[in-house]
Amino acid sequence: MVRIDLKGLVREFTDGTKIGPIDLSIRDGELLTLLGPSGSGKTTTLRMIAGFIEAEEGALLFDGRDMVGIPPRERNIGMVFQSVALFPNMTVYQNIAFGPEMAEWSHEKTVERVEELADLLGIRDLLFRKISEISGGEAQRVGLARALAKQPALLLLDEPLSALDPQLRERLQTEIRRIQKKVKVTTIYVTHSQDEAFAISDRVAIINDGRIEQIGTPEELYDRPSNEFVARFLGSGNVLQGTVKQTEGGELCVDVLGVRLPLKGECKVGEEVKFSIKPEDIKIVIEKHITSATGTVTSILPQVGSFKITVDFQDRPIIVLTYDEELVSRLRENGDKQVSFFFEPDLAVILGE
Ligand SMILES: Nc1ncnc2c1ncn2[C@@H]1O[C@H](COP(=O)(O)OP(=O)(O)OP(=O)(O)O)[C@@H](O)[C@H]1O
Ligand SMILES: [Mg+2]
Repeated sequence: MVRIDLKGLVREFTDGTKIGPIDLSIRDGELLTLLGPSGSGKTTTLRMIAGFIEAEEGALLFDGRDMVGIPPRERNIGMVFQSVALFPNMTVYQNIAFGPEMAEWSHEKTVERVEELADLLGIRDLLFRKISEISGGEAQRVGLARALAKQPALLLLDEPLSALDPQLRERLQTEIRRIQKKVKVTTIYVTHSQDEAFAISDRVAIINDGRIEQIGTPEELYDRPSNEFVARFLGSGNVLQGTVKQTEGGELCVDVLGVRLPLKGECKVGEEVKFSIKPEDIKIVIEKHITSATGTVTSILPQVGSFKITVDFQDRPIIVLTYDEELVSRLRENGDKQVSFFFEPDLAVILGE
């Protein structure tokens, strides 16, 4: 296990693409996921940590030790890349044993380690098959076993499951999580899937355009996105904008497209604010004029255990999640589809830059 600190790490490519400055700390034994859109700098960040590319500015510390000039092979890292690069003509056993053998482990110790990992990953029966004779999902497990073989202090996983079908991906997510906790290896996981990130991580760092936007547990990010990018990227909220019209002891009245909505926060009169409100925190009522916020229901989509309702509010779609079947059947019968909606002011989150 190892603690990793990135302090103002910057990499600028010759074409001017700049990744960073990145500030990030990964705790000992933690599974932290870098989550962000394609091209946001996830792989580049991993490659800087691994030492395949050097940062131009900033510091990279492993347990407080500066990593400048330390070659990748001396960093005690196991890696799994997006497409698993296994040796196709070698057996599963030979692939997993490759690192220990290069490091001149004794034969007994190597066999013991390979068998231990094969049991952990459920690939014991495959040890003497060639890589060309196993499935993609099995190859992912072999890749993971190979990365863990030399008991690395740090595991870097770059979209290790992206090539798999959803069911297998879900199963392997659970396994990666279980194995990571069992062997207690500090892990940085890269994905652009929110579901995957939320399913396996202790904490998630949202990366966008080469910068970390927010770091937190899945719950923290989902409940309290700090800015519009995070709120939209996580789909955790309807993002609305308005002008503060009144304030009193932290209670605000905000004009949104001509409709006054109550919020909570420290803002001044006249200030423009953006806020996010989660679909499950908005309540719909059919009785008109209960609130001044009214809209038209444009779609009702059944989901597992709930309904996703889209309400057109001044030409903006407001997404509402409800479990209320009676409301949904009344909405379906209701001819004009007009509804009012409201939310508890303290459930809306004022967004920063
Ligand atoms: N060697 C390079 N030379 C120039 N630009 C590069 C180089 N490597 C990466 N980039 C650019 O840096 C940015 C970040 O790339 P990176 O591979 O880190 O993204 P990513 O977040 O891993 O994306 P993806 O989800 O698609 O894998 C991209 O704009 C990419 O084009
Ligand atoms: Mg990448």
